[in-house]
Amino acid sequence: MKITTTAAVAGTALLPAFAAGAAELNLICSADVVICEKLVTEFERAHSDIGVNMVRLSSGEAYAKIRAEARNPQTDLWWGGTGDPHLQAAADGLTVEYQSPRLSELHDWAVAQAETSGHRTVGVYSGALGWGYNTRIFEAKGLEEPACWADLLNPDLQGEIQMADPNSSGTAYTALATLVQLMGEDEAFDYLKQLNANVAQYTKSGSAPVRAAGRGEAGLGIVFMHDAVAQTVEGFPIRTIAPCEGTGYEVGSMSLVEGGPNPDEAVVFYDWVLGAEVQDLMPEAGSYQLPSNKAAVASEHAPDLGQVKLIDYDFAEYGSSDRRRALLARWDSEIGGRATD
Ligand code: F6P
Repeated sequence: MKITTTAAVAGTALLPAFAAGAAELNLICSADVVICEKLVTEFERAHSDIGVNMVRLSSGEAYAKIRAEARNPQTDLWWGGTGDPHLQAAADGLTVEYQSPRLSELHDWAVAQAETSGHRTVGVYSGALGWGYNTRIFEAKGLEEPACWADLLNPDLQGEIQMADPNSSGTAYTALATLVQLMGEDEAFDYLKQLNANVAQYTKSGSAPVRAAGRGEAGLGIVFMHDAVAQTVEGFPIRTIAPCEGTGYEVGSMSLVEGGPNPDEAVVFYDWVLGAEVQDLMPEAGSYQLPSNKAAVASEHAPDLGQVKLIDYDFAEYGSSDRRRALLARWDSEIGGRATD
C-alpha cells in the first residue's frame, strides 16, 4: 500500500521537489489498519516534505520480512505489533539502537521494553489478552459464558472458537507464551491440543477472530481485550472477558530498521509518533490500547488493566530469539494450525 502526499502539498513549492524524488519513508505498521492509515495521514500533514509508503503486516510477518531483507533492507521503521518479535529483531541485530528525546515522557513499562532491548525498540502502547464472545450466538445455543481458560475446552464450544496462527500473529504468540507461563510448557501444549478440537479456524491477523465473532461467523475469538472492545463500540454483540486464571499482555513496540534507506526520515517519524498529541489520535481510529506517553489520555473504552489478573510476563525470555523460535517450531509440529485467511 502506498499513500502519497500529493494532496497535502499540492500548490506549494514542495511539489517539484516531490516529483524529483523528495524524501520518503518506508513504514511497516503492525497495528489495526485504520490507525496505521490515520498515522500516515497525520504525519504527512505535519511533515509535508516526507512521503510515507506504508504496508500493514501482522507482527510475525513483519519480523520475517525484516529478517528476509537483512542484506538489502527496504524498510525504515516498524511501528506497532506485539513486543516479542521486536525484541527478537533487536537480539538479531536487525534494528538500530536509538534513544528518543521523548523517552522521559513515557510510562515505565515502555521504557523497560527499551532497556530490555538495549534501546533497539520502545513501547508505544499496551493491552491485555483475553477473548470476546458473541452474546447472541451463546444465548441462542444455550452456551455458558466462558470466564476462564479452562472453560474454552468445554466440548459444547466445538467449532465455535477462532484464534490466530502464532507464526504470523503477535496476538497468538502472546497467547502461546502466556499459556506456557501460566501452566508450564508441556501442560500448555496439552491444553492447546485440546483447544484445537474447538478451534474452527486459525487466522493470519490477531484481531480477525473477534471480527468474525462480531459478524456472527464464530462464537468466540481469542484476542487482545482492546480488539474485542472495539467490536462492541462498533455495535456488534461482543462481550469482552479477562481470563480468571490470569493472562498475559503486550507492550506494542516500535523499532528503526538497521540499514534502512531513509534513516533520517525514520527518526522524524519515531520522535513524532511518541508524542502525546499523536497517541491521543488512537481512540478516534477505534484503537483502545493504553498509550505509552504519560500525558496521552487513555480512552474510556480502554480495558482497565487494574481489573485484570495480569501475569508477570517475561518479555526478555519470550522475546528472545531461541525461545520464540523453539515455541513456534513446537507449535508447528504439535498443533500445526495454519492460517487460512
Ligand atoms: O489490532 C491491534 C493489535 O491488537 C495491536 O494491539 C497488536 O500489537 C497487533 O494488533 C497485533 O496484531 P497481530 O496479532 O496481527 O500481529
